[in-house]
Amino acid sequence: MAIPKFSSLFRCRKWAKSDWLAAFLGFVLVVFFLSFFFDSPFDSDSVSSVDQSLPITYPPNLVKLKLSSLAKERGAFCLDGSLPGYHFQNGSGSGSNSWLLHLEGGGWCSTIASCSSRAMTNYGSSNYFEDEVSFPGVLSNDPSQNPEFFNWNRVVIRYCDGASFAGRPEAEFKNETRLFFRGQLIWETIMDELLSMGMSDAKQAILTGCSAGGLAALIHCDYFRDHLPKDAVVKCFSDGGFFLNLPDVLGNPTMENFFNDVVNLQGVDKSLDQSCVAKMDPCKCMFPHEFLKNIRTPVFLVNAAYDSWQIEHVLVPVSADPDKSWAKCRLNIKECDAEQMKVLHGFRSSLMDGIGEFHQNKVGGMFIDSCFSHCQSVAPETWHSPTSTRIENKTIAESVGDWFFNRNPVKLIDCPYPCNPSCSNMNFA
Ligand SMILES: *[C@@H]1O[C@H](CO)[C@@H](O)[C@H](O)[C@H]1NC(C)=O
Ligand SMILES: *[C@@H]1O[C@H](CO)[C@@H](O)[C@H](O)[C@H]1NC(C)=O
Ligand SMILES: *[C@@H]1O[C@H](CO)[C@@H](O)[C@H](O)[C@H]1NC(C)=O
Repeated sequence: MAIPKFSSLFRCRKWAKSDWLAAFLGFVLVVFFLSFFFDSPFDSDSVSSVDQSLPITYPPNLVKLKLSSLAKERGAFCLDGSLPGYHFQNGSGSGSNSWLLHLEGGGWCSTIASCSSRAMTNYGSSNYFEDEVSFPGVLSNDPSQNPEFFNWNRVVIRYCDGASFAGRPEAEFKNETRLFFRGQLIWETIMDELLSMGMSDAKQAILTGCSAGGLAALIHCDYFRDHLPKDAVVKCFSDGGFFLNLPDVLGNPTMENFFNDVVNLQGVDKSLDQSCVAKMDPCKCMFPHEFLKNIRTPVFLVNAAYDSWQIEHVLVPVSADPDKSWAKCRLNIKECDAEQMKVLHGFRSSLMDGIGEFHQNKVGGMFIDSCFSHCQSVAPETWHSPTSTRIENKTIAESVGDWFFNRNPVKLIDCPYPCNPSCSNMNFA
């Protein structure tokens, strides 16, 4: 979430055997340097005003880390056995009884080796957590950047289990490796702690998160609803969490195999939607497409139709590009040729198919922009600013607000790339 993570980013890049973790850490870098990488449609265009081409800077809103005080007695530990934690900024005024919980993302670990490596980073151990992190976008306390939720109680729950807060201790101690698979316990323990800090009086609440955290927000959505007052308005909003079970460009089930390994290693099946697990291989139930229809609580999906993480890792993982013909395109959509764009448009179609049924969901909402992006709620350039991503002239923040407060139904689907000039397309090259 914060700039201090850069040092660990580069450390991780060296040891990560698979590039999954490194890639997710890379996302952290991009979110925070978005204004530098940021492919503004206005940069090369003198038609726009000077204001629009200058990056807008916001003062940092640093929030202190708190390690969980209940975790020790509950046995809720990070991968390495350290205590999990969170960052809390209290609400005020009309937001005093409103709560927004953000589950941090950062990939998954699928093997003893990759989890052991992860246990030596801030994604597996609180020994490496920063003392404070910045709260941008949906987490911000600045109404110009976060018009709907700036005065709510806001919490970032740190991700240190490697299985979307859904691992189970029964799966531990394989091959005598001392790793703790307690994501589900971390989630439940920190929920109890927040409930005791005033969240049990919540009148409004949102569970959100991005990437692996966006997936976790869907997995835990009904639990969140069920632990808050009956008369509270409770909804879940997943950012960049709609992972597709799609073969890669060589036809290999790279993503399904990966989730299969995560589920088996960390015993995630018991945390997944049980009506789904009863019907099919549990690893398939990690894909939102399979369990979205069973979530009882209203859900909003924010996802780029050209999700940069999924293009880089689901559609064109390095293993599916032996001749490196995708080397540039998979990192920067502007480098794609016509044939490659066809494949990317195919990804968009698969995403639309995956979301298909959800269109009929009366209480659901969506914002599916045609940007090459990932995790758009945690940067002002994508969440809310004068130049941020829009569909039908609405920012993501306004869209989520319209849906949460029942101002308007929101089912926003963008036209295909490159139709939207307000995109902040990423460039990982
Ligand atoms: C909550 O935050 C406000 C500032 O936003 C501060 O004035 C107030 O004292 C805080 N309340 C509590 C209970 O910490
Ligand atoms: C445990 O070790 C055996 C033999 O070295 C290996 O085949 C197996 O895959 C290992 N299990 C895990 C979960 O790593
Ligand atoms: C878009 O919305 C802004 C306010 O957010 C408004 O000032 C502007 O006029 C709108 N533009 C169009 C074309 O509707």
